[in-house]
Amino acid sequence: MMIPEFTLGFWVLLHLISPVANYANGKVTEACYTMVPRHGHTSQSEPIHEITLNQTTFCPGDIIKVTLSGPLFKGFLLEARNAKDLNSSPIGSFRLIDEEESQLLNCDQKEGSAVSHTSSSKKTQIQVYWKAPRNTEVSIQFLATVVEKFKIYWVKIRSPILYPSNVHPFTMSQTTTVSSPTSRPIATLKKSFSALDCGGKKFCIRNPVNCDPENEYHCFFLSFERQNHSVLIEMSGPNEGYLSFALSHDQWMGDDDVYMCIHEDETVHMYPSYVFGRSHPVFDSPAVLETMAWRLADGVIQCSFRRNISLPGSKRFDLDQKYYIFLADGVTNNGQIHKHSQQPLITSEKHDVTAHPKNIGGSRSPLLLKLHGAFMFVAWMTTGSIGVLVARFFKPVWSKAFLFGEAAWFQIHRILMLCTSGLTIVGFVLPFIYRKGWSRAAGYHPYLGCVVMILAILQPFLALFRPPSHDSRRWIFNWTHWGTGTAARILAVAAMFLGMDLPGLDLPSPAKTYAMIGFVAWHVGTEILLEIHAYRLTRKVQILEDDRIQILQSFTTAEAEVSPFILLHIRSSCKVAFTEIYPFLFQGHAFKKVVLVTYICGNLAFLFIFLSAISQH
Ligand SMILES: *[C@@H]1O[C@H](CO)[C@@H](O)[C@H](O)[C@H]1NC(C)=O
Ligand SMILES: *[C@@H]1O[C@H](CO)[C@@H](O)[C@H](O)[C@H]1NC(C)=O
Ligand SMILES: *[C@@H]1O[C@H](CO)[C@@H](O)[C@H](O)[C@H]1NC(C)=O
Repeated sequence: MMIPEFTLGFWVLLHLISPVANYANGKVTEACYTMVPRHGHTSQSEPIHEITLNQTTFCPGDIIKVTLSGPLFKGFLLEARNAKDLNSSPIGSFRLIDEEESQLLNCDQKEGSAVSHTSSSKKTQIQVYWKAPRNTEVSIQFLATVVEKFKIYWVKIRSPILYPSNVHPFTMSQTTTVSSPTSRPIATLKKSFSALDCGGKKFCIRNPVNCDPENEYHCFFLSFERQNHSVLIEMSGPNEGYLSFALSHDQWMGDDDVYMCIHEDETVHMYPSYVFGRSHPVFDSPAVLETMAWRLADGVIQCSFRRNISLPGSKRFDLDQKYYIFLADGVTNNGQIHKHSQQPLITSEKHDVTAHPKNIGGSRSPLLLKLHGAFMFVAWMTTGSIGVLVARFFKPVWSKAFLFGEAAWFQIHRILMLCTSGLTIVGFVLPFIYRKGWSRAAGYHPYLGCVVMILAILQPFLALFRPPSHDSRRWIFNWTHWGTGTAARILAVAAMFLGMDLPGLDLPSPAKTYAMIGFVAWHVGTEILLEIHAYRLTRKVQILEDDRIQILQSFTTAEAEVSPFILLHIRSSCKVAFTEIYPFLFQGHAFKKVVLVTYICGNLAFLFIFLSAISQH
């Protein structure tokens, strides 16, 4: 699966938490799906109630005793759901133990698929039976919403996972009371994470490279610190809604181990999840995460947790293997996760985060898009521009110099322009390979790119079939060739401006815009300078030529009467030719060459700026 779908995977993970009526009589079927009471207050983050089960596995038709207990509470709603999709509809049906305190509800038109309170009397424990359906093979997790009083409630407290007995690795039917994982305390952090131990004790990934999570708001920071049999993981970054990282066997999303920190209701929820193929990530129970802690401050979201290096019996990857690491962030809105605004960061190689502490940066731009950008910059900033200047202004300078049997200017022009077309063709294909098709999110950039591509292919064919230089139709070719080339260059610059702003190429803003404007000014300035120079040169040569013709004319008329005056004429005419025209032409060539060399230096400097920015980000 390609990275854009990684993007997609994080789209709609959490359903919208819609307000739902809360009734003292417990008839809360409207809340069946969201399990959120309509209280207008945000839910509590750290559950203090727990759900326990008298079994850890079940066979079809089994009766399981479910206990919800904790400090005094008034209302509750209990459901059993697919542990791999906690947003799915309820599974199985309940039997009441205490008909005075609890009642059955029909959620999703399934009889007895949920249990709620009958009154707002205070209770500390509720017990019910849950009957496993005959035809289910999925793991079950019980979810409970508990209302202590109007303003204080907890949503979707999770039970331990109940595995179908044919799937669970430790099949046994002993009575074990597993305490709820969500009753683990979640601490708040006191200060920012530190990058001091990066490369020493911690394996760190930072974006931008080597940024400081303590002082730089825009720093994305992920660290792994091995502590005996477990790894302490810290993640922080600008708080837009959520941060996540994934361990992956390849540089594409799919079958990856994902960890999410989601800012919701002024707290941070941490979920391990798993991406099956192309589907959305599926949240797992946070039971495997220990010592969870978080902090929201100064626009930064921080979360940390510990997990064992290997967690047999869960989908979590072993942390002593090599993986590509993804770092993604994005926006949440009412608990709904939206597509992130920038490309996820993906490490360029696989790393074993527990083997050697390293300090690495990562790139948010996929390699194919980087190459696309680099090829296009080389083609349309450098080879194309220099090739055009050479043809436009250096014909007189290098018309007598030959390279492989052709005028030097022509050879240089042809080589550079063929490079431009070649780089364009290769560069053009890359984003299509990467996106596996047309990218609608890229706006006008691909349309401009297609036109440039067509012109870049057309131009060499036009040139191939040009009429000979003295043909009467040659001017048509000259104008078409110039017109096509100029149109291609202008569109290419426009395409570069648009392309730079796309998230696929994570160049620093607004520096990239200034640099591009700088390049255009540099190029146009050089062309104008050479144009003015060429104009003045032809003017001057014309004036001098006129002078010379006058002198020679007077010389021929005076030819009859040989006088000492003639000698003077000859001398002056030769003087004009040798001391003014030729040196002037020569000086003109020297000037042009100096301008060309200066231009190329500047051009390469701009190219270097862009290429190094592409390689660094
Ligand atoms: C759990 O409770 C149910 C209902 O009382 C019972 O049928 C079942 O055998 C119990 N399971 C265990 C492992 O004791
Ligand atoms: C790791 O183990 C050592 C003893 O082998 C112990 O002293 C230390 O406290 C442990 N560290 C952690 C973080 O558990
Ligand atoms: C992690 O490993 C320790 C022993 O190494 C074990 O006691 C603990 O239960 C494990 N934690 C989880 C969540 O599996």
